Amino acid sequence: NKNILQDNFGRDHAYLRISLIERCNLRCSYCMPEEGVQLSPKSHLMTYEEIYDIAKTFVKHGVTKIRLTGGEPLIRKDIPIILEKLATLPVELSITSNAVIIDKFIDILKANKVKSINVSLDSLDKEKFKHITRRDQFEKVYNNILLLVKEGFKVKLNAVLMKDFNDNEIIDFINFTKDLPISVRFIEFMPFDGNKWDMSKMVSYAEVMQYVNAAFSETQIERLQDAPNDTSKNYKIKDYTGSFAIISSVTNPFCDSCNRLRLTANGQLKNCLFSSGESDLLTTLRAGKSIEPVIQKAVQAKFKIRGGMNTIEKLQEPKLHSKNRSMITIGG
Ligand code: GTP
Ligand code: 5AD
Ligand code: SF4
Repeated sequence: NKNILQDNFGRDHAYLRISLIERCNLRCSYCMPEEGVQLSPKSHLMTYEEIYDIAKTFVKHGVTKIRLTGGEPLIRKDIPIILEKLATLPVELSITSNAVIIDKFIDILKANKVKSINVSLDSLDKEKFKHITRRDQFEKVYNNILLLVKEGFKVKLNAVLMKDFNDNEIIDFINFTKDLPISVRFIEFMPFDGNKWDMSKMVSYAEVMQYVNAAFSETQIERLQDAPNDTSKNYKIKDYTGSFAIISSVTNPFCDSCNRLRLTANGQLKNCLFSSGESDLLTTLRAGKSIEPVIQKAVQAKFKIRGGMNTIEKLQEPKLHSKNRSMITIGG
């Protein structure tokens, strides 16, 4: 595709993440500040027609994968129409959800060719789940994960690890894959506005592997081949049905192979998860102008490493990530 969105480092951008909503039915502390976030007025959010129009332009420029995120994408009232519209495009359509209400959407997801679902779940312990999400919904999420597997979806679990909170559950999570065909992905805690990040709360890739090496013998641990542009380093325990992986954005960034662009619920294009600059596609679209030059310019302006935060020292400077949004309004 000669229209492909290539940046100055030669990276092609074929993956668009669209955040549909800034609200969520959970309150994960690593994702949003306790007092909540300033919500965009409804009139500043993309309608489903606008989402479709913008997505169509990206597809024209070589996007082949669209992931819907939030907040929680499924609490958006018009999610069925959004799925139906996007399913008409030649893309792989996926969703990242907390799965609290996903049981009500099984048929709609299937009808619109959603095959793979990433579910956020940070603890297998009901009380810890309640502590981190500030909501008592563990059983719903747990049962819905089993339901998704039963219904034939490809399921990945996302567990953000936090020191002395859920690092003692790493092996429980891996054992959860013994009889279930799911991938559990351990994620290094990343800094965003209002999430009180500091390095000492993070559990690194190396530390995860220490737990794994202590629990399993060398011959039991298999390193799997990672897909191109994968965020995760994939492993499996021999004879286990599922697999596990580590997303080490902090200690081992994958910026060299980054193929992602992000569209926020209020129609701003972010060229990087850590970018502070945004390009206003929605206002351009509403003014009746072409969004194509705006997209091209944003892609050209994309940085190489962590939006400029190319060392762990820099990443630790609070003023850099407080120029970014809260995670809940980016969508991961
Ligand atoms: P797949 O399409 O299944 O590979 O999912 P994904 O890893 O792209 O998306 P998901 O929504 O499941 O996100 C998992 C974790 O990866 C979250 O913590 C995201 O914030 C993180 N992540 C996703 N894309 C990027 C990225 O471009 N850069 C960084 N640093 N982290 C990312
Ligand atoms: N660091 C790492 N991952 C995060 N997520 C949310 N906040 C953070 C953070 N601060 C993850 C959630 C969700 C995904 C989209 O982003 O686990 O599954
Ligand atoms: Fe909601 Fe996901 Fe953020 Fe938790 S991580 S508050 S489930 S958007």
